[in-house]
Amino acid sequence: MAIEIVEGDITAQQVDVIVNAANSSLLGGGGVDGAIHRRGGPEILAECRKLRAGHYSRGLRVGQAVATTAGRLPARWVVHTVGPVWSATEDRSSLLADCHRNSLRVAASLGASTVAFPAISTGIYRWPLESAAEIALSTVTEELASDTSVTLVRFVLFGQAAYDIFRSRLP
Ligand code: APR
Repeated sequence: MAIEIVEGDITAQQVDVIVNAANSSLLGGGGVDGAIHRRGGPEILAECRKLRAGHYSRGLRVGQAVATTAGRLPARWVVHTVGPVWSATEDRSSLLADCHRNSLRVAASLGASTVAFPAISTGIYRWPLESAAEIALSTVTEELASDTSVTLVRFVLFGQAAYDIFRSRLP
C-alpha cells in the first residue's frame, strides 16, 4: 500500500483510474474536469450523458463517485466525483472524505490497483489546500488499510505550492 505525491498534470498519469473533480451535472466544466474531457475525448462525455439518461437522471450527489471509460487518457477508467464547495460556516469535511472513500471503492469494484487523485475541491470550489490535504490523506490512508484491491494512490498536484502542502502532510 503506497501513497505518492507528485507535481504535474493528472491527465498524463498512466494509472488504472484517474479521478475527476466533476460537478453534479457530469457534463464537464473547467479545471481538472475540463482537462480530462479535452484530453480524454468525446467518449467520456458520451458515457456521462448515458449515466444522466439512466440511474443518475438527477445528477451525481456531492461525495458520490461513478466510473466511465477514460477515452484517450493513459488510464483504463475515469472515476467522477463531486467535491463540496468550501463553506466558512458549515463543516463539509465528511463530504470531502466521502469523495475519496467512494472513489477508491468504485475503483476497487472495477479491480483497479493504481489510482490518481487531483486536489479535489481546492480550485473553483475554493477549499483551502491545507485542510483538503489533511482530509484527503487521512481518508485514503484509512481506506488503503482496509480490504481493497487498490495498492497505489498518487496525488497529482498542480504547482509547487500545492505539492509542498500535500507533501508536508503525508503521514
Ligand atoms: N492536473 C492536476 N490538477 C489540476 C489540473 C490538472 N490538469 N487542473 C487543475 N488542477 C488542480 C487545481 O489547481 C486545483 O488545485 O485541481 C484542483 C481542483 O480544482 P478544480 O478542477 O477547479 O476542481 P474543484 O475545485 O473540485 O471544482 C470543481 O470546477 O471544473 C469545474 O466542473 C467542475 O464545477 C466543477 C468544479
